[in-house]
Amino acid sequence: MSEHQDPTDAGRLWGGRFAAGPDEAAWAIGVSTSFDRHLWRQDLAGSRAHCHELHRIGVLTGDERDALLDGLTRCGQLFAAEAFPFEPTDEDVHGAIERWLVEELGAVGGKLRAGRSRNDQIASDLKLWCRDACDEVVALIGGLQQAFVEQAETHLGWHAPGYTHLQRGQPVLLSHHLLAYVWMLDRDAGRFRDARARLNTSTLASGAMAGQTLGLDPQAYADQLGFDRVAENSMDAVASRDFALEVLAAAAILAVTLSRLGEEIVLWATSEFGFARVGDGFSTGSSIMPQKRNPDIAELVRGKAGRVIGDLVALLTTIKALPLTYDRDLQEDKEPVFDAIATLRLALPAITGTVASLRFDRDRLAEASVGGFALATDLAEELVTRGVPFREAHEIVGAVVRRAEEQGVDLDGLDPDALQEIHPALDADVAARFDAQEAIDRRDAVNGTATVAVRAQLARAREAAAANLEH
Ligand code: ARG
Repeated sequence: MSEHQDPTDAGRLWGGRFAAGPDEAAWAIGVSTSFDRHLWRQDLAGSRAHCHELHRIGVLTGDERDALLDGLTRCGQLFAAEAFPFEPTDEDVHGAIERWLVEELGAVGGKLRAGRSRNDQIASDLKLWCRDACDEVVALIGGLQQAFVEQAETHLGWHAPGYTHLQRGQPVLLSHHLLAYVWMLDRDAGRFRDARARLNTSTLASGAMAGQTLGLDPQAYADQLGFDRVAENSMDAVASRDFALEVLAAAAILAVTLSRLGEEIVLWATSEFGFARVGDGFSTGSSIMPQKRNPDIAELVRGKAGRVIGDLVALLTTIKALPLTYDRDLQEDKEPVFDAIATLRLALPAITGTVASLRFDRDRLAEASVGGFALATDLAEELVTRGVPFREAHEIVGAVVRRAEEQGVDLDGLDPDALQEIHPALDADVAARFDAQEAIDRRDAVNGTATVAVRAQLARAREAAAANLEH
């Protein structure tokens, strides 16, 4: 027999129609205070709004409303001090708060449940929580974007190899590479903004699912809680968690962006690449190999993507076969959301610090940016400007590369006669194509890697970072 068998247990809100309380194992799987306690702030905010509405419709007197509001304030103080006295008989955060109010205020504590259900309460609580989480993540993304902008500014003019298939492709400015992350992250931030805008719909006054009979005004809750609008349908309001899925999808995509970044940092820090060194504060040593300097933080961030993707998949799977409206399966919505956001709260500052700490090696980067026939495309495009069809130019330059490879030289190591022999259009002017700086600066359209273009891009990137930071 469990200690939860008294049907009058105050922290469980549904004992009346049962002769006996739940079995111990049943209670254990159902109790949610260990995680839904994180929603106390949102739950109390909803209850305050409800107090005002209950007073407006005459269910609470002015004194009762004030007593309840005061009780809710004191309750919030206890939670803020991490001193709220949970009881083992509290089933969830809603039940715990009601039990406490009754203990503190007497019967009036029991008036607050009129016209509402835990179904509309929990949906509202989680929306409010997600709203704040979106704002917080957007600002953290802004911080990471800013770290990239600073690095891009500091290294403006440095060359780097641009890769496809992890094979050297064309030389770029290092800043162009770094700023690519600013725009990837900007879309990540945009997904959180979009999710926030769409979820900002009030669900309270939906009752269990069909609405309520007391005359509560859904718009009043929206106004008090800062929701943009009221959910159109009470059944949708209590049944839907696509808002949480959107937040998780945004989180998973962001985690994947961070993972790719982590991977690049790991590569850059190898002796094989040797492009960058991670600062001491973001490197770790080995317990056995004294010489080691490991990019653990970048690796951890890369590793964290797994769990955030898992959080998304977990909730998608939970929801996929649920009939309308509320099903208890929905209690499983909270932990994945909390976990994903907690993970981002760790990962974003850690990777931001890592990026800010990077010390790049100018010589290694410059050397790598011209190796591997990186200027072959430029040579082909030069032939195109001389009227050679690109298809043919591609063949010609392919032959040039083959010849250079045979001779063990780079493109600029071939003598003019050898070039002429391959094709008459390969004259002396073509030698001008064998310069990385020129190759970079020829790409001067708005999206290109030319110094002038990257300088302008840098200004736009700085604005994008600031808009998220100040969000
Ligand atoms: N703890 C529940 C949840 O997280 C609250 C809603 C309970 N509703 C119910 N009808 N049992 O979803």
